[in-house]
Amino acid sequence: MEQSSEPAEKVQGDWLIVGAWEGETPPTLGGGLETSLGAVVARLCESGDFEGKANETLALFEPAGIAAKRVLLVGLGKREAAGPMTVSRAAGSAIRAIAKKKHERVVCTLLGEGATNLSFEERAVATLTGAIIGESGQDLYRTKKNRKAAEVIVLAHPVDETILARATAVGEAVCLAAELVNLPPADIFPETFCQRAKALAEPLRMKTESFDAAALAREKMECILGVGKGSSHEPRLLILRYEGAPSDSRKLALVGKGITFDSGGLSIKTAEGMTSMKCDMAGAAAVLAATIAIAKLRLPVNILCIAPLAENMPSGLSIKPGDVLRAKNGKTIEVLNTDAEGRLVLADALSHAVDLGATHIVDLATLTGACMVALGMSVAGVMSNNEVWSREVQDAAKQTGERVWPLPMFEEYDELIKSGVADMKNIGGRWGGAITAAKLLANFVGTTPWVHVDIAGPAFAEKECPYQDGGGTGFFVRSLVALAERYAKSEK
Ligand code: BES
Ligand code: ZN
Ligand code: ZN
Repeated sequence: MEQSSEPAEKVQGDWLIVGAWEGETPPTLGGGLETSLGAVVARLCESGDFEGKANETLALFEPAGIAAKRVLLVGLGKREAAGPMTVSRAAGSAIRAIAKKKHERVVCTLLGEGATNLSFEERAVATLTGAIIGESGQDLYRTKKNRKAAEVIVLAHPVDETILARATAVGEAVCLAAELVNLPPADIFPETFCQRAKALAEPLRMKTESFDAAALAREKMECILGVGKGSSHEPRLLILRYEGAPSDSRKLALVGKGITFDSGGLSIKTAEGMTSMKCDMAGAAAVLAATIAIAKLRLPVNILCIAPLAENMPSGLSIKPGDVLRAKNGKTIEVLNTDAEGRLVLADALSHAVDLGATHIVDLATLTGACMVALGMSVAGVMSNNEVWSREVQDAAKQTGERVWPLPMFEEYDELIKSGVADMKNIGGRWGGAITAAKLLANFVGTTPWVHVDIAGPAFAEKECPYQDGGGTGFFVRSLVALAERYAKSEK
Protein backbone atom coordinates (compact mmCIF):
# COMPACT_ATOMS: atom_id res chain seq x y z
CA MET A 1 0.00 0.00 0.00
CA GLU A 2 1.34 3.40 -0.99
CA GLN A 3 0.15 6.87 -0.20
CA SER A 4 0.11 9.95 -2.37
CA SER A 5 -0.09 13.54 -1.33
CA GLU A 6 -0.85 14.72 -4.86
CA PRO A 7 -4.42 15.69 -5.69
CA ALA A 8 -6.38 12.56 -6.70
CA GLU A 9 -6.85 13.65 -10.33
CA LYS A 10 -3.06 13.90 -10.79
CA VAL A 11 -2.14 10.44 -9.46
CA GLN A 12 -1.08 8.03 -12.21
CA GLY A 13 -2.56 4.57 -12.25
CA ASP A 14 -4.65 2.00 -14.13
CA TRP A 15 -7.73 2.91 -12.15
CA LEU A 16 -8.95 5.65 -9.87
CA ILE A 17 -11.73 4.58 -7.50
CA VAL A 18 -14.27 7.27 -6.68
CA GLY A 19 -17.37 6.99 -4.49
CA ALA A 20 -20.71 8.77 -4.98
CA TRP A 21 -23.87 8.98 -2.88
CA GLU A 22 -27.22 7.90 -4.20
CA GLY A 23 -29.52 10.58 -5.56
CA GLU A 24 -27.29 13.62 -5.00
CA THR A 25 -26.64 16.22 -7.68
CA PRO A 26 -24.24 17.89 -7.80
CA PRO A 27 -22.37 14.87 -6.45
CA THR A 28 -19.93 14.85 -3.55
CA LEU A 29 -17.04 12.75 -4.80
CA GLY A 30 -14.27 13.41 -2.31
CA GLY A 31 -10.60 13.93 -3.09
CA GLY A 32 -11.43 17.29 -4.68
CA LEU A 33 -12.74 15.49 -7.76
CA GLU A 34 -15.92 17.52 -8.13
CA THR A 35 -14.19 19.94 -10.51
CA SER A 36 -12.94 17.29 -12.94
CA LEU A 37 -15.66 14.65 -12.63
CA GLY A 38 -18.67 16.37 -11.08
CA ALA A 39 -20.39 17.29 -14.36
CA VAL A 40 -19.91 13.83 -15.92
CA VAL A 41 -21.23 12.08 -12.84
CA ALA A 42 -24.21 14.45 -12.66
CA ARG A 43 -25.08 13.60 -16.29
CA LEU A 44 -24.71 9.87 -15.63
CA CYS A 45 -27.11 10.23 -12.72
CA GLU A 46 -29.61 12.20 -14.81
CA SER A 47 -29.54 9.62 -17.60
CA GLY A 48 -29.94 6.80 -15.07
CA ASP A 49 -26.69 5.12 -16.14
CA PHE A 50 -25.35 5.42 -12.61
CA GLU A 51 -27.53 5.99 -9.57
CA GLY A 52 -25.05 5.66 -6.73
CA LYS A 53 -26.88 2.70 -5.24
CA ALA A 54 -24.81 0.79 -2.68
CA ASN A 55 -22.07 -1.28 -4.39
CA GLU A 56 -23.14 -0.30 -7.93
CA THR A 57 -20.11 0.27 -10.15
CA LEU A 58 -19.48 2.01 -13.49
CA ALA A 59 -16.23 2.32 -15.42
CA LEU A 60 -15.26 5.51 -17.26
CA PHE A 61 -12.44 5.38 -19.79
CA GLU A 62 -9.88 8.15 -20.04
CA PRO A 63 -12.03 10.87 -18.51
CA ALA A 64 -10.78 14.39 -19.17
CA GLY A 65 -8.66 15.95 -16.45
CA ILE A 66 -7.78 12.63 -14.75
CA ALA A 67 -4.24 11.24 -14.83
CA ALA A 68 -5.32 7.66 -14.15
CA LYS A 69 -6.30 5.65 -17.26
CA ARG A 70 -9.78 4.87 -16.02
CA VAL A 71 -12.18 5.87 -13.27
CA LEU A 72 -14.36 3.38 -11.45
CA LEU A 73 -17.39 4.99 -9.87
CA VAL A 74 -18.81 3.12 -6.93
CA GLY A 75 -22.16 3.79 -5.30
CA LEU A 76 -22.40 4.41 -1.57
CA GLY A 77 -26.18 4.38 -1.22
CA LYS A 78 -28.03 7.01 0.79
CA ARG A 79 -25.78 9.35 2.71
CA GLU A 80 -27.80 9.28 5.98
CA ALA A 81 -27.75 5.47 6.07
CA ALA A 82 -23.99 5.10 5.69
CA GLY A 83 -21.93 3.28 8.31
CA PRO A 84 -18.44 1.77 8.30
CA MET A 85 -19.73 -1.36 6.55
CA THR A 86 -21.22 0.74 3.73
CA VAL A 87 -17.81 2.23 3.01
CA SER A 88 -15.95 -1.04 3.43
CA ARG A 89 -18.33 -2.89 1.13
CA ALA A 90 -18.18 -0.16 -1.51
CA ALA A 91 -14.37 -0.38 -1.49
CA GLY A 92 -14.57 -4.18 -1.76
CA SER A 93 -17.10 -3.96 -4.61
CA ALA A 94 -14.89 -1.52 -6.52
CA ILE A 95 -11.79 -3.67 -6.16
CA ARG A 96 -13.69 -6.82 -7.10
CA ALA A 97 -15.19 -5.11 -10.15
CA ILE A 98 -11.74 -4.38 -11.58
CA ALA A 99 -9.93 -7.49 -10.34
CA LYS A 100 -11.13 -9.68 -13.20
CA LYS A 101 -8.48 -8.17 -15.47
CA LYS A 102 -4.82 -7.50 -14.94
CA HIS A 103 -4.00 -4.12 -13.46
CA GLU A 104 -1.00 -2.81 -11.66
CA ARG A 105 -1.73 0.41 -9.88
CA VAL A 106 -5.07 1.14 -8.34
CA VAL A 107 -5.54 4.59 -6.89
CA CYS A 108 -8.23 4.71 -4.25
CA THR A 109 -9.83 7.82 -2.80
CA LEU A 110 -11.11 7.72 0.74
CA LEU A 111 -14.72 6.73 0.25
CA GLY A 112 -17.69 8.26 2.05
CA GLU A 113 -16.78 11.95 1.92
CA GLY A 114 -19.48 13.87 3.75
CA ALA A 115 -20.91 10.83 5.54
CA THR A 116 -23.05 12.05 8.39
CA ASN A 117 -21.99 9.46 10.94
CA LEU A 118 -18.38 8.68 10.09
CA SER A 119 -15.11 10.27 11.13
CA PHE A 120 -12.17 10.62 8.76
CA GLU A 121 -10.40 7.81 10.58
CA GLU A 122 -13.41 5.48 10.37
CA ARG A 123 -13.70 6.14 6.65
CA ALA A 124 -9.99 5.49 6.15
CA VAL A 125 -10.00 2.23 8.06
CA ALA A 126 -13.22 1.07 6.37
CA THR A 127 -11.99 1.94 2.86
CA LEU A 128 -8.66 0.21 3.29
CA THR A 129 -10.07 -2.83 5.09
CA GLY A 130 -12.74 -3.27 2.42
CA ALA A 131 -10.18 -2.93 -0.38
CA ILE A 132 -7.94 -5.59 1.17
CA ILE A 133 -10.90 -7.94 1.60
CA GLY A 134 -12.03 -7.30 -1.98
CA GLU A 135 -8.62 -8.33 -3.26
CA SER A 136 -8.72 -11.77 -1.73
CA GLY A 137 -11.05 -14.42 -3.02
CA GLN A 138 -11.95 -18.02 -3.51
CA ASP A 139 -9.15 -18.83 -5.96
CA LEU A 140 -7.40 -21.20 -3.57
CA TYR A 141 -7.99 -24.28 -5.70
CA ARG A 142 -8.83 -22.76 -9.07
CA THR A 143 -6.43 -23.62 -11.86
CA LYS A 144 -7.25 -20.43 -13.72
CA LYS A 145 -7.45 -17.63 -11.18
CA ASN A 146 -10.56 -15.44 -11.22
CA ARG A 147 -8.98 -12.64 -9.28
CA LYS A 148 -5.96 -10.55 -10.13
CA ALA A 149 -4.77 -8.51 -7.20
CA ALA A 150 -3.34 -5.09 -7.89
CA GLU A 151 0.40 -4.77 -7.54
CA VAL A 152 -0.07 -1.61 -5.53
CA ILE A 153 -2.98 0.22 -4.08
CA VAL A 154 -2.26 3.89 -3.80
CA LEU A 155 -4.27 5.82 -1.32
CA ALA A 156 -5.00 9.23 -2.77
CA HIS A 157 -5.18 10.84 0.63
CA PRO A 158 -2.37 10.67 3.15
CA VAL A 159 -3.42 9.01 6.39
CA ASP A 160 -1.61 8.31 9.61
CA GLU A 161 0.65 5.24 9.77
CA THR A 162 -1.43 3.90 12.67
CA ILE A 163 -4.57 3.96 10.52
CA LEU A 164 -2.74 2.17 7.74
CA ALA A 165 -1.39 -0.45 10.15
CA ARG A 166 -4.78 -1.01 11.74
CA ALA A 167 -6.60 -1.37 8.43
CA THR A 168 -3.92 -3.71 7.05
CA ALA A 169 -3.88 -5.93 10.12
CA VAL A 170 -7.67 -6.10 10.29
CA GLY A 171 -8.16 -6.58 6.54
CA GLU A 172 -5.60 -9.37 6.44
CA ALA A 173 -7.15 -10.99 9.50
CA VAL A 174 -10.61 -11.03 7.92
CA CYS A 175 -9.07 -12.66 4.83
CA LEU A 176 -7.22 -15.18 6.99
CA ALA A 177 -10.39 -16.22 8.81
CA ALA A 178 -12.22 -16.54 5.48
CA GLU A 179 -9.37 -18.56 3.99
CA LEU A 180 -9.29 -21.01 6.90
CA VAL A 181 -13.03 -21.56 6.47
CA ASN A 182 -12.66 -22.01 2.71
CA LEU A 183 -9.90 -24.59 2.98
CA PRO A 184 -11.37 -28.06 2.45
CA PRO A 185 -11.70 -30.36 5.45
CA ALA A 186 -9.08 -32.67 3.94
CA ASP A 187 -6.57 -29.85 4.40
CA ILE A 188 -7.76 -28.22 7.61
CA PHE A 189 -8.36 -30.62 10.46
CA PRO A 190 -7.43 -30.22 14.13
CA GLU A 191 -3.74 -30.98 13.71
CA THR A 192 -3.19 -28.80 10.63
CA PHE A 193 -5.25 -25.99 12.14
CA CYS A 194 -2.84 -25.98 15.10
CA GLN A 195 0.19 -26.06 12.80
CA ARG A 196 -1.11 -23.07 10.89
CA ALA A 197 -1.90 -21.23 14.12
CA LYS A 198 1.59 -21.83 15.46
CA ALA A 199 3.20 -20.69 12.23
CA LEU A 200 1.20 -17.46 12.46
CA ALA A 201 1.69 -16.86 16.18
CA GLU A 202 5.32 -17.71 16.72
CA PRO A 203 6.83 -14.85 14.70
CA LEU A 204 4.74 -12.56 16.91
CA ARG A 205 6.31 -14.15 19.97
CA MET A 206 3.07 -15.50 21.33
CA LYS A 207 2.99 -18.56 23.52
CA THR A 208 1.16 -21.38 21.81
CA GLU A 209 0.07 -24.71 23.16
CA SER A 210 -2.00 -27.56 21.76
CA PHE A 211 -3.37 -30.51 23.68
CA ASP A 212 -3.43 -33.79 21.76
CA ALA A 213 -5.74 -36.65 22.74
CA ALA A 214 -3.47 -37.80 25.57
CA ALA A 215 -3.25 -34.29 27.00
CA LEU A 216 -7.01 -33.81 26.62
CA ALA A 217 -7.50 -36.99 28.64
CA ARG A 218 -5.10 -35.73 31.32
CA GLU A 219 -7.01 -32.45 31.44
CA LYS A 220 -10.30 -34.36 31.80
CA MET A 221 -11.79 -32.88 28.66
CA GLU A 222 -14.11 -35.75 27.85
CA CYS A 223 -16.41 -33.64 25.72
CA ILE A 224 -13.79 -32.65 23.13
CA LEU A 225 -12.51 -36.22 23.12
CA GLY A 226 -16.05 -37.57 22.80
CA VAL A 227 -16.92 -35.41 19.80
CA GLY A 228 -13.61 -36.27 18.11
CA LYS A 229 -13.83 -40.00 18.75
CA GLY A 230 -15.48 -41.00 15.48
CA SER A 231 -12.85 -39.35 13.30
CA SER A 232 -9.46 -40.60 12.16
CA HIS A 233 -8.19 -37.08 12.83
CA GLU A 234 -7.41 -36.63 16.52
CA PRO A 235 -9.02 -33.68 18.29
CA ARG A 236 -7.02 -30.83 19.80
CA LEU A 237 -7.37 -27.88 22.10
CA LEU A 238 -5.43 -24.88 20.84
CA ILE A 239 -4.36 -22.11 23.21
CA LEU A 240 -2.59 -18.90 22.21
CA ARG A 241 -1.56 -16.32 24.73
CA TYR A 242 -0.91 -12.72 23.87
CA GLU A 243 0.30 -10.70 26.84
CA GLY A 244 0.16 -7.08 25.78
CA ALA A 245 -0.58 -5.60 29.20
CA PRO A 246 1.49 -7.34 31.90
CA SER A 247 0.42 -4.86 34.56
CA ASP A 248 -3.28 -5.34 33.83
CA SER A 249 -4.79 -8.19 35.81
CA ARG A 250 -7.66 -8.59 33.36
CA LYS A 251 -7.59 -11.33 30.79
CA LEU A 252 -9.92 -11.44 27.80
CA ALA A 253 -10.64 -14.97 26.56
CA LEU A 254 -11.67 -15.39 22.93
CA VAL A 255 -13.05 -18.88 22.48
CA GLY A 256 -14.03 -20.26 19.06
CA LYS A 257 -15.86 -23.43 18.02
CA GLY A 258 -13.54 -25.42 15.80
CA ILE A 259 -15.41 -28.33 14.25
CA THR A 260 -13.31 -28.77 11.12
CA PHE A 261 -16.12 -30.79 9.57
CA ASP A 262 -19.58 -31.43 11.00
CA SER A 263 -21.22 -34.48 9.45
CA GLY A 264 -23.55 -34.63 12.44
CA GLY A 265 -21.89 -37.83 13.66
CA LEU A 266 -24.28 -40.77 14.17
CA SER A 267 -27.18 -38.27 14.21
CA ILE A 268 -26.04 -37.71 10.67
CA LYS A 269 -27.01 -34.67 8.61
CA THR A 270 -28.63 -34.88 5.17
CA ALA A 271 -26.39 -34.57 2.12
CA GLU A 272 -27.79 -31.08 1.63
CA GLY A 273 -27.22 -30.13 5.28
CA MET A 274 -23.60 -31.21 5.11
CA THR A 275 -22.46 -29.32 2.03
CA SER A 276 -21.29 -26.20 3.85
CA MET A 277 -20.14 -27.89 7.06
CA LYS A 278 -16.46 -27.13 6.51
CA CYS A 279 -17.58 -23.75 7.83
CA ASP A 280 -18.11 -25.18 11.31
CA MET A 281 -14.70 -23.95 12.47
CA ALA A 282 -15.46 -20.33 11.56
CA GLY A 283 -15.52 -19.38 15.25
CA ALA A 284 -12.04 -20.82 15.79
CA ALA A 285 -10.80 -19.16 12.59
CA ALA A 286 -12.18 -15.77 13.68
CA VAL A 287 -10.71 -15.84 17.20
CA LEU A 288 -7.34 -16.96 15.84
CA ALA A 289 -7.29 -14.29 13.12
CA ALA A 290 -8.41 -11.56 15.51
CA THR A 291 -5.73 -12.56 18.03
CA ILE A 292 -3.08 -12.35 15.31
CA ALA A 293 -4.29 -8.86 14.36
CA ILE A 294 -4.35 -7.76 18.01
CA ALA A 295 -0.78 -9.01 18.45
CA LYS A 296 0.42 -7.33 15.24
CA LEU A 297 -1.06 -4.07 16.46
CA ARG A 298 0.49 -4.60 19.89
CA LEU A 299 -2.72 -3.61 21.60
CA PRO A 300 -2.24 -3.26 25.37
CA VAL A 301 -4.50 -6.17 26.40
CA ASN A 302 -4.06 -9.74 27.57
CA ILE A 303 -5.71 -12.24 25.26
CA LEU A 304 -6.33 -15.90 25.83
CA CYS A 305 -7.33 -17.43 22.52
CA ILE A 306 -8.83 -20.90 22.87
CA ALA A 307 -10.13 -23.18 20.14
CA PRO A 308 -11.52 -26.68 20.74
CA LEU A 309 -10.88 -28.52 17.47
CA ALA A 310 -12.50 -31.77 16.39
CA GLU A 311 -14.01 -33.46 13.37
CA ASN A 312 -17.53 -34.75 13.97
CA MET A 313 -17.82 -38.09 12.13
CA PRO A 314 -19.86 -41.28 12.36
CA SER A 315 -17.93 -44.49 12.94
CA GLY A 316 -17.90 -47.55 15.14
CA LEU A 317 -16.11 -45.47 17.76
CA SER A 318 -18.38 -42.41 17.69
CA ILE A 319 -20.29 -41.16 20.70
CA LYS A 320 -23.87 -42.39 20.59
CA PRO A 321 -27.18 -40.90 21.59
CA GLY A 322 -27.51 -41.88 25.24
CA ASP A 323 -23.84 -41.46 26.08
CA VAL A 324 -22.96 -39.18 28.97
CA LEU A 325 -19.85 -36.99 28.88
CA ARG A 326 -18.17 -35.26 31.81
CA ALA A 327 -16.79 -31.81 31.02
CA LYS A 328 -13.64 -30.37 32.53
CA ASN A 329 -15.53 -28.60 35.32
CA GLY A 330 -17.09 -31.91 36.41
CA LYS A 331 -20.58 -31.32 35.04
CA THR A 332 -22.17 -34.12 33.03
CA ILE A 333 -24.01 -33.87 29.71
CA GLU A 334 -26.32 -36.46 28.26
CA VAL A 335 -25.78 -36.60 24.51
CA LEU A 336 -29.14 -37.12 22.82
CA ASN A 337 -28.13 -35.81 19.42
CA THR A 338 -24.54 -36.08 18.24
CA ASP A 339 -25.12 -33.19 15.82
CA ALA A 340 -25.39 -30.79 18.76
CA GLU A 341 -21.61 -31.17 19.17
CA GLY A 342 -20.53 -27.52 19.23
CA ARG A 343 -21.87 -26.95 22.74
CA LEU A 344 -20.01 -30.09 23.88
CA VAL A 345 -16.56 -29.00 22.73
CA LEU A 346 -17.25 -25.49 24.00
CA ALA A 347 -18.16 -26.85 27.45
CA ASP A 348 -14.56 -28.01 27.91
CA ALA A 349 -13.04 -24.96 26.26
CA LEU A 350 -15.05 -22.49 28.37
CA SER A 351 -14.23 -24.42 31.57
CA HIS A 352 -10.59 -24.23 30.62
CA ALA A 353 -10.80 -20.48 29.95
CA VAL A 354 -12.17 -20.01 33.47
CA ASP A 355 -9.43 -22.24 34.93
CA LEU A 356 -6.77 -20.20 33.15
CA GLY A 357 -8.04 -17.06 34.87
CA ALA A 358 -10.08 -15.38 32.16
CA THR A 359 -11.84 -12.33 33.61
CA HIS A 360 -14.04 -11.77 30.54
CA ILE A 361 -15.08 -14.29 27.88
CA VAL A 362 -16.45 -14.02 24.37
CA ASP A 363 -17.19 -17.18 22.43
CA LEU A 364 -17.90 -17.38 18.72
CA ALA A 365 -19.64 -20.40 17.30
CA THR A 366 -21.52 -21.57 14.23
CA LEU A 367 -23.72 -23.19 16.82
CA THR A 368 -27.32 -23.53 15.68
CA GLY A 369 -29.52 -23.58 12.62
CA ALA A 370 -32.13 -22.16 14.99
CA CYS A 371 -30.23 -18.88 15.20
CA MET A 372 -30.46 -18.56 11.41
CA VAL A 373 -34.20 -19.23 11.60
CA ALA A 374 -34.54 -16.52 14.25
CA LEU A 375 -32.33 -13.79 12.79
CA GLY A 376 -31.62 -14.63 9.15
CA MET A 377 -28.32 -15.15 7.40
CA SER A 378 -26.54 -11.88 8.04
CA VAL A 379 -27.18 -11.29 11.74
CA ALA A 380 -25.51 -13.08 14.65
CA GLY A 381 -27.28 -13.83 17.92
CA VAL A 382 -25.82 -12.55 21.17
CA MET A 383 -26.51 -14.29 24.49
CA SER A 384 -24.88 -13.53 27.80
CA ASN A 385 -24.83 -13.88 31.57
CA ASN A 386 -23.86 -10.24 32.08
CA GLU A 387 -25.72 -7.17 30.77
CA VAL A 388 -22.75 -4.80 30.94
CA TRP A 389 -20.34 -7.10 29.13
CA SER A 390 -22.99 -7.96 26.54
CA ARG A 391 -23.56 -4.25 25.90
CA GLU A 392 -19.81 -3.79 25.42
CA VAL A 393 -19.62 -6.58 22.82
CA GLN A 394 -22.68 -5.20 21.03
CA ASP A 395 -21.17 -1.71 21.02
CA ALA A 396 -17.95 -3.05 19.48
CA ALA A 397 -20.04 -4.70 16.76
CA LYS A 398 -21.95 -1.48 16.20
CA GLN A 399 -18.65 0.35 15.76
CA THR A 400 -17.63 -1.95 12.89
CA GLY A 401 -21.10 -2.35 11.39
CA GLU A 402 -21.25 -6.11 11.89
CA ARG A 403 -24.84 -7.05 12.70
CA VAL A 404 -25.66 -8.73 16.01
CA TRP A 405 -28.89 -8.93 17.99
CA PRO A 406 -29.52 -10.04 21.58
CA LEU A 407 -31.65 -13.06 22.48
CA PRO A 408 -33.06 -13.49 26.00
CA MET A 409 -31.66 -15.86 28.61
CA PHE A 410 -34.72 -16.11 30.90
CA GLU A 411 -34.62 -18.89 33.48
CA GLU A 412 -37.68 -20.52 31.85
CA TYR A 413 -35.33 -21.90 29.20
CA ASP A 414 -33.31 -23.84 31.80
CA GLU A 415 -36.16 -26.35 32.07
CA LEU A 416 -35.68 -27.36 28.47
CA ILE A 417 -32.21 -28.83 28.91
CA LYS A 418 -32.88 -30.80 32.10
CA SER A 419 -31.81 -34.42 31.76
CA GLY A 420 -33.19 -37.55 33.39
CA VAL A 421 -29.74 -39.04 33.88
CA ALA A 422 -27.14 -36.25 33.88
CA ASP A 423 -26.73 -32.59 34.87
CA MET A 424 -28.11 -31.51 31.50
CA LYS A 425 -28.87 -32.79 28.02
CA ASN A 426 -27.41 -31.46 24.80
CA ILE A 427 -30.68 -30.70 23.01
CA GLY A 428 -33.55 -28.51 24.16
CA GLY A 429 -36.26 -29.54 21.71
CA ARG A 430 -37.92 -27.64 18.92
CA TRP A 431 -38.30 -24.17 20.39
CA GLY A 432 -35.71 -21.51 21.15
CA GLY A 433 -32.85 -23.66 19.89
CA ALA A 434 -30.24 -20.90 19.80
CA ILE A 435 -31.06 -20.02 23.40
CA THR A 436 -31.14 -23.54 24.82
CA ALA A 437 -27.70 -24.09 23.27
CA ALA A 438 -26.45 -20.93 25.01
CA LYS A 439 -28.11 -22.06 28.25
CA LEU A 440 -25.98 -25.20 28.18
CA LEU A 441 -22.83 -23.13 27.64
CA ALA A 442 -23.71 -20.91 30.61
CA ASN A 443 -23.04 -23.91 32.87
CA PHE A 444 -19.33 -23.76 32.04
CA VAL A 445 -18.45 -20.12 32.64
CA GLY A 446 -19.51 -19.77 36.28
CA THR A 447 -19.94 -16.11 37.14
CA THR A 448 -17.27 -14.83 34.73
CA PRO A 449 -18.82 -12.21 32.43
CA TRP A 450 -19.43 -14.10 29.21
CA VAL A 451 -20.96 -13.37 25.82
CA HIS A 452 -21.83 -16.05 23.32
CA VAL A 453 -22.09 -15.00 19.67
CA ASP A 454 -23.90 -17.50 17.44
CA ILE A 455 -22.43 -16.80 13.98
CA ALA A 456 -24.10 -19.72 12.13
CA GLY A 457 -25.73 -17.32 9.64
CA PRO A 458 -23.15 -14.66 8.84
CA ALA A 459 -19.97 -16.79 8.98
CA PHE A 460 -20.57 -18.33 5.59
CA ALA A 461 -22.05 -16.82 2.42
CA GLU A 462 -23.81 -19.32 0.17
CA LYS A 463 -23.08 -17.25 -2.93
CA GLU A 464 -20.99 -14.29 -3.99
CA CYS A 465 -22.18 -10.71 -3.92
CA PRO A 466 -20.59 -7.48 -5.22
CA TYR A 467 -18.27 -7.03 -2.23
CA GLN A 468 -17.21 -10.59 -1.44
CA ASP A 469 -16.92 -14.09 -2.84
CA GLY A 470 -19.14 -16.86 -1.58
CA GLY A 471 -17.73 -18.90 1.30
CA GLY A 472 -16.09 -17.78 4.53
CA THR A 473 -16.74 -14.14 5.42
CA GLY A 474 -14.40 -13.55 8.36
CA PHE A 475 -17.43 -12.36 10.30
CA PHE A 476 -16.74 -10.75 13.70
CA VAL A 477 -12.97 -10.49 13.28
CA ARG A 478 -13.33 -6.73 13.01
CA SER A 479 -15.57 -6.53 16.04
CA LEU A 480 -13.17 -8.61 18.13
CA VAL A 481 -10.29 -6.27 17.29
CA ALA A 482 -12.53 -3.29 18.09
CA LEU A 483 -13.53 -4.99 21.34
CA ALA A 484 -9.89 -5.51 22.30
CA GLU A 485 -9.17 -1.84 21.59
CA ARG A 486 -12.11 -0.73 23.70
CA TYR A 487 -11.10 -3.18 26.43
CA ALA A 488 -7.60 -1.72 26.51
CA LYS A 489 -9.03 1.75 26.96
CA SER A 490 -11.73 0.85 29.49
CA GLU A 491 -11.37 0.95 33.26
CA LYS A 492 -8.87 -1.53 34.65
N1 BES B 1 -22.89 -26.71 12.97
C1 BES B 1 -24.27 -26.86 13.20
C2 BES B 1 -25.05 -25.55 13.12
C3 BES B 1 -25.06 -24.88 11.76
C4 BES B 1 -26.06 -25.16 10.86
C5 BES B 1 -24.09 -23.96 11.44
C6 BES B 1 -26.05 -24.55 9.63
C7 BES B 1 -24.09 -23.34 10.20
C8 BES B 1 -25.09 -23.64 9.29
C9 BES B 1 -24.51 -27.46 14.59
O1 BES B 1 -23.53 -28.30 15.06
C10 BES B 1 -25.76 -28.25 14.50
O2 BES B 1 -25.80 -29.17 13.74
N2 BES B 1 -26.75 -27.87 15.29
C11 BES B 1 -28.00 -28.53 15.30
C12 BES B 1 -28.44 -28.65 16.74
C13 BES B 1 -29.63 -29.55 16.95
C14 BES B 1 -29.27 -30.98 16.65
C15 BES B 1 -30.10 -29.41 18.37
C16 BES B 1 -28.99 -27.70 14.51
O3 BES B 1 -28.95 -26.48 14.59
O4 BES B 1 -29.79 -28.28 13.78
ZN1 ZN C 1 -23.72 -30.34 14.44
ZN1 ZN D 1 -21.60 -27.94 14.34
